[in-house]
Amino acid sequence: MNPIKHVAIIMDGNGRWGTNKGKSRNYGHKQGLKTVEKIIKESVKNKIKYLTLYAFSTENWKRPKNEINYLFSLLDNFLSNKIRELHQEKIKFLVIGKKRFNKKLNKLLNYSEKLTYKNKRLQINLALNYGSKSEIIDAINFIKKKNLKINEKNVSENLYTKNIPDPDILIRTGDRKRLSNFLLWQLAYSEIFFEKKLWPDFNERDYNKILELFKKTKRNFGKI
Ligand code: IPE
Ligand code: IPE
Ligand code: MG
Repeated sequence: MNPIKHVAIIMDGNGRWGTNKGKSRNYGHKQGLKTVEKIIKESVKNKIKYLTLYAFSTENWKRPKNEINYLFSLLDNFLSNKIRELHQEKIKFLVIGKKRFNKKLNKLLNYSEKLTYKNKRLQINLALNYGSKSEIIDAINFIKKKNLKINEKNVSENLYTKNIPDPDILIRTGDRKRLSNFLLWQLAYSEIFFEKKLWPDFNERDYNKILELFKKTKRNFGKI
């Protein structure tokens, strides 16, 4: 049985879920947040150590302003209301991506990271304004600047995910089979699960099914 340390998720399909229901895309995002809470709880139950959630890509700035503003207001409300509870649950919160938001949100993100820094039960890495290609380029530029050798170890140690083991599992909901600039380096040997359901419909049972399937998968890492 494979142990599961790290699960990464591309939470896709909120917008379609909202419009399928005859409502707005933003309504889908609101519902999607409920799935986030369910999956966090289920990850704790399963003793998973790292949960990386793709919430906003560097490319998502191309969306309409009203949708972008809504997404960040959801995040602001969520953290303002829930960060103390997450802290009590011994959950650590980390942002991966460039923290370039409005002053209030930047402050709240920094506060949340600091508050939960020492927690060890589950680490949530929230990918926000995250782009994998720019993450890799930044790492290489840093290595060059420091006159270090460009090798696997030095690249890994200069990504946002330094000190975090690579994901065992990647899940993408929303019936699209692509990576959308997410963790291109870190996913080199992850088991990938594409899920047809849209993110707001994804539930604990779907999640556990994937975890069980993963446990039984033979991982080769190039060997036989
Ligand atoms: C959630 O799904 C992803 C983000 C929060 C950016 P989408 O908003 O991409 O939903 P679809 O794929 O358009 O349905
Ligand atoms: C990936 O979803 C980004 C997040 C889930 C945050 P997108 O909906 O932005 O991906 P594309 O544009 O369809 O590839
Ligand atoms: Mg999408």
